[in-house]
Amino acid sequence: YTIDWDASAAEKGGWDSFMDKEIHEDPAAVSNTLLGRYDESGDLDLDEVHIDEEVFRQIDKIIVVACGTASYAGLVAKYAIEHWVRIPVEVELAHEFRYRDPILTPRTLVVAISQSGETMDTLMALRHAREQGSRVLAICNTQGSTIPRESDAVLYTHAGPEVAVASTKAFLAQIVAAYLLGLYLAQVKGTMYRDEIHQTIDNLKAMPAKIQKVLDSQAEVISQTAQRMSKARSFLFLGRHVGYPVALEGALKLKEIAYIFTEGFAAGELKHGPIALVEPGEPVVVIVPSARGRNVLHDKVISAIEEVKARGAFTIVVAEEGDPDAGRYADVVFWRPPCPTLLSPLVDVVPLQLFALDMARLKGLDVDKPRNLAKSVTVE
Ligand code: G6P
Repeated sequence: YTIDWDASAAEKGGWDSFMDKEIHEDPAAVSNTLLGRYDESGDLDLDEVHIDEEVFRQIDKIIVVACGTASYAGLVAKYAIEHWVRIPVEVELAHEFRYRDPILTPRTLVVAISQSGETMDTLMALRHAREQGSRVLAICNTQGSTIPRESDAVLYTHAGPEVAVASTKAFLAQIVAAYLLGLYLAQVKGTMYRDEIHQTIDNLKAMPAKIQKVLDSQAEVISQTAQRMSKARSFLFLGRHVGYPVALEGALKLKEIAYIFTEGFAAGELKHGPIALVEPGEPVVVIVPSARGRNVLHDKVISAIEEVKARGAFTIVVAEEGDPDAGRYADVVFWRPPCPTLLSPLVDVVPLQLFALDMARLKGLDVDKPRNLAKSVTVE
């Protein structure tokens, strides 16, 4: 009696790739990153970062430095933190930040986001910031790695090890960690009511089940759509507000693992250039904001879908359940459960991760180890 033992298959826990496994760990990445960061009353408790409350109270600007997916998590955080804390948040690619003359003061908090904690571009950016007297807080998924070691403080994401080169669950965990930082700043600066903070924490706690619902209910339509699109040579992704960084991330996933030419852009830019690319059959993926609360952006994004549809685009729409307009100009809709707008990237990105995975598989590619890319880029 023998058992076929394949170590790598065992590590994948029954999934046929690490990426597949890691996408299915999205809900856990969110819940584990929330764990232990608030007390029983619902107040944020970030003592672990070891920065004095008074120092946090004095922070008057945040600059996020990161690369790739981590930079898109920073872009999502910008919308939430500016709204909650009323301080400017800049997001800059680490390699660009490093070689200009950024305006940094002791009251600037530089937030370095990195899954691996070893990305050289991000490390150089944080050194640059510290040399000029700014404090650096790392949001990182890897205990004891270089970036948190060289930072003044660290807020770990608890996504668990991420093996696939294309980042998935770590992206969600980075967004959650950045939200926690924002809520904590709002708490110490008093820019939000305690009730609002508690409500937001409760809303965050509800996200893992919503993400799980997307995984369970949308897999089929996503893989059917991938089959229909398997010959497509390019994709456009568009979104607005927090849907904009989701569009960028969806475009990056497809580029990284399926080797398809993609462009992600803010839906408002459509008429300023990208619409020239739309010809009959061109696939366009659109992230639609919630229709609730008479959201003006919702209607604007729906008209963007109408614009591209009128030019023959094949439209794939990510929308909130119950949205009465989402299907109007859509060839396919990927549905996600209702949630507050600022938290919606946590559900909106999930179908795009699955879609990229399906597209890459259909092309017979190694989804975990895409050509020319490395999990952590330790050269500048
Ligand atoms: C590489 C990876 C990307 C990742 C980026 C930042 O380019 O291929 O998936 O988003 O590095 O990595 P980090 O470990 O700093 O988050």
